[in-house]
Amino acid sequence: MIELIHISKRFGDTAAVDDISLKVESGEFCVVVGTSGCGKSTTLRMINRLIEHSDGEIHIDSQPIRSFREEQLRRRIGYAIQSTGLFPHWTVARNIGLVPRLLKWPKARIDARVEELLTLLGLSGSEFAGKYPSQLSGGQAQRVGVARALAANPDILLMDEPFGALDPITRETLQIELRQLQTRLGKTIVFVTHDMDEALRLADRLVVMHEGRIVQQGHPLTLLREPVNDFVASMLGGEDRGLKEAALLPVSERMSPLGVGGVARERIDQGASLREALSIMLWRRVECLAVVDDGDIPIGELSFRRLVGARGHE
Ligand SMILES: Nc1ncnc2c1ncn2[C@@H]1O[C@H](COP(=O)(O)OP(=O)(O)O)[C@@H](O)[C@H]1O
Ligand SMILES: [Mg+2]
Repeated sequence: MIELIHISKRFGDTAAVDDISLKVESGEFCVVVGTSGCGKSTTLRMINRLIEHSDGEIHIDSQPIRSFREEQLRRRIGYAIQSTGLFPHWTVARNIGLVPRLLKWPKARIDARVEELLTLLGLSGSEFAGKYPSQLSGGQAQRVGVARALAANPDILLMDEPFGALDPITRETLQIELRQLQTRLGKTIVFVTHDMDEALRLADRLVVMHEGRIVQQGHPLTLLREPVNDFVASMLGGEDRGLKEAALLPVSERMSPLGVGGVARERIDQGASLREALSIMLWRRVECLAVVDDGDIPIGELSFRRLVGARGHE
């Protein structure tokens, strides 16, 4: 769906982005991580032509983006950033309606769309539509920023550290909601962050950048297990990689059938991660958990040995 082919961007003599190639499939959640100044934002902004690339070609659905009219880019690509970019003297409704207005939608259609988006992002319309950005909490403003990016129903969403300024709890809530939204709406997302836990939680494809280049890309588990060099290994968590991998694997992956000797007392949901299971074991000082289904019915058990993936007999 989105393809960057040998893309470079020079500002004067310095290359901010240096010969990167990247393919993002339709419906994929692609997360770009890397140290500050490595070219993440520049890469994102070349996709919607806020920045023109110096060399190479960028294609959307096999068409070079240089052949797109500005209106087509606006309609197809939503963009959300950390500072939200909301206009302070405009109401929430007017901010969200920005792109539809530029696309000259009739007023009734814009109003209906704003209402729909406020509901989608968990902000009740009657309360929020008339507020100004200064009257919103950080989390609410960020939701409005995402609603605005979705306004013209683009199939591509570019997000540059959209949750960077939020407290950890609000941030995690919005991450979960964004992931659900993406599954439901089937958007193709390119998301920039420097927070590895956020990246691992969200990514179908993880792209690690360093000094303007892509060092490695692939499924998060592949990068965790087979980093190509020490830089990628340390970016992905160094000594913490075991815990980060456990956070990506569901309990059901390692659970065994219900034992004959009765069910362990401490319970864990089958959809929980191995990391959560480990935490419960440490906290409750137990070596076995009962795995339960949505109805809280035990369906298996998870021993410490199985959790760590130890080989051989129990
Ligand atoms: N408009 C610009 N003019 C000159 N240099 C720029 C400009 N935008 C970015 N750069 C430089 O390009 C490099 C990459 O920047 P950026 O893409 O913003 O990094 P990141 O988002 O990964 O922190 C940095 O060295 C930055 O200083
Ligand atoms: Mg940046």
